[in-house]
Amino acid sequence: MTKDLQGKRIVLGLSGGIACYKSAELVRRMIDLGASVDVVMTDAATHFITAVTMQALSGRPVFLDAWDARIPNNMPHIDLTRGADAVLIAPASADFMAKLVQGRADDLLSTLCLARACPLLVAPAMNREMWAAAPTQRNAEQLKRDGVMILGPGNGDQACGETGDGRMLEPAQLLAELVGFFQPKLLSGKRVLITAGPTVEPIDPVRVISNRSSGKTGYALARAAWEAGAEVTLISGPTALSTPHGVTRINVETAEQMYNAVLASAANQDIFIAVAAVADWRVAKVATDKIKKNADQPPELSFITNPDILATVAKLPNGPWCVGFAAETERLSEFAHEKRLRKGIPMLIGNLAQHVMDADHTTVSIFDMHGEHPLATSGKQDVARQLIHAIATRVDGTQA
Ligand code: C5P
Repeated sequence: MTKDLQGKRIVLGLSGGIACYKSAELVRRMIDLGASVDVVMTDAATHFITAVTMQALSGRPVFLDAWDARIPNNMPHIDLTRGADAVLIAPASADFMAKLVQGRADDLLSTLCLARACPLLVAPAMNREMWAAAPTQRNAEQLKRDGVMILGPGNGDQACGETGDGRMLEPAQLLAELVGFFQPKLLSGKRVLITAGPTVEPIDPVRVISNRSSGKTGYALARAAWEAGAEVTLISGPTALSTPHGVTRINVETAEQMYNAVLASAANQDIFIAVAAVADWRVAKVATDKIKKNADQPPELSFITNPDILATVAKLPNGPWCVGFAAETERLSEFAHEKRLRKGIPMLIGNLAQHVMDADHTTVSIFDMHGEHPLATSGKQDVARQLIHAIATRVDGTQA
């Protein structure tokens, strides 16, 4: 597991709402990622989950009131946020949001929000009518104007039995938001299109030809591009991976479907990163019925070449800035340089296929007009962030 919050000090504030039960999982996962977390609860929050639970999971004392004598100078509202990297309110009730807007300070959590010197992130959680109500919407807008980051809310079934907007984001989504919040916004305002995973080429209605691509690198790049502030579209062949938070995913199976999906949106993109392991060939004539097994005589398949998606996009007039991948089993430098020139792209990322397929770590080199730039072996998410940094420094011509 990558320690994406290593060294971060977070104040996690809970106000009153049934979504407090999700905050137990949230604090646990924040600790897993290396954060140190001070939990502060309003009186209402303690009706939904106990301070004991939050103390056991955070491994630190929980703070409940402004008169807490455990803080040496008796000023928990100041001490807790000095040195903190962020305050996250999850769940944030409609009432708590209203208090933040008014700058009220009548309990420890509202007081420390006012007294803080660090960013404030707020995850609303309430019934859909409360969220849609004009005062709540006005308050959310005002908080944004005040520089507060509003996370969610999500949409779906609610504890009250109704369905709509107002659910607190899931712990994994809040974690993704928090980790993303600390990443530099190198691709802010950019639109990034990424292909990932394998393609699956049918032989007949039940048989296919595919490859071993897990999609991990493409998904890690999609996540890193979103963390860097980009609007990300991921066109993916079948994988077992869940869609990275904030990313729009379009599912395809065959190379032809991937080609059509990419070409439909490529013209509006700033950057195209082709990570997918696209099948080079497809079966020329897909059987409409299952091919019967004949033990003596296996069927003979003939193939036709699939279109090269990356090379096509690279030739588009005013098309996006293109990045390709090359998975080779030998002579990486030689093949990668040659491939970058053949595809007509400014940057290609090369790796040795036998080392990376389905692995969580990867070793890659960047190939550009200046030559080869190897990156140290690391987790795929870490490498993806380094690659997004490398792309961001090149894409606006700061480095050709
Ligand atoms: O030519 P080769 O398949 O080795 O090139 C790999 C690069 O080209 C990868 O970036 C891959 O996503 C892309 N590609 C593509 N369409 C194809 C074949 C490869 O976009 N039909």
